[in-house]
Amino acid sequence: MKTFVYADYDQLSRAAATLVTDTVRSNPHALLCIATGDTPAGMMNYLTEDVRSGVVDFSKVSFVSLDEWVGLNQQDEGSCRHFFYQHLVYPLNLNAEQVAFFDGRADDAEHECARIDQYITGKGGIELMIVGIGMNGHIGMNEPGLAVANSSHIVNLDEVTITVGQKYFREKTPLRRGITLGIGQILESKKAILMASGRKKAEIVARAATGPVTTQVPASFLQQHHDAYMLLDADAASSLDYTIA
Ligand code: GLP
Repeated sequence: MKTFVYADYDQLSRAAATLVTDTVRSNPHALLCIATGDTPAGMMNYLTEDVRSGVVDFSKVSFVSLDEWVGLNQQDEGSCRHFFYQHLVYPLNLNAEQVAFFDGRADDAEHECARIDQYITGKGGIELMIVGIGMNGHIGMNEPGLAVANSSHIVNLDEVTITVGQKYFREKTPLRRGITLGIGQILESKKAILMASGRKKAEIVARAATGPVTTQVPASFLQQHHDAYMLLDADAASSLDYTIA
């Protein structure tokens, strides 16, 4: 896994957006999987700027979701899908057919997992995956200590995720389970980028980047990806040896 460190969050966001636009320019039909959350928000703003200024055309791209809170869907502010629509689908003017997102309110969660897995297979796999990292080292909602999954699945959320996850909601929201792509699917993507920002992520980023590959730090499995990159701002890299990109 190669690591690139940028001076600040803005430069990190710009660099990540350029990676996405380069991917789409070389493969306009690419299937992309982009995490929601605070970290990719700046990158999403740059993608919107790039589309509006004609640098890139997203009209043929497809998106698949990475994860969702079980029990929540687009109408729920704080859901991953709500965030994704607000930050990408509406600003980029994407069609509903271009997006396959987990329905956290689906009656049949197993069926929902199978639907997303089949969508990915039908598109020939994920070209570019952009994930964040949880304070506990999760990627998607693949929580510490769980066996590596090769397909979409339901997880019981870790206490850290339940606590930190409250930041996405205006009011205290009970979060218990998540629906997520498996680590195996993340490793199968053609290219994987992990983005992290802020000093609070520095320690877990260092463990993921240079520590042993272990289910205790799910993001460490990216070390086994054939084409993976960590894109960090200087604060997130502060527990690593680095030079600014
Ligand atoms: C959340 C999401 C992840 C996200 C990560 C980091 O729980 N489920 O997909 O990448 O944690 O989020 P943030 O970027 O807000 O720190």
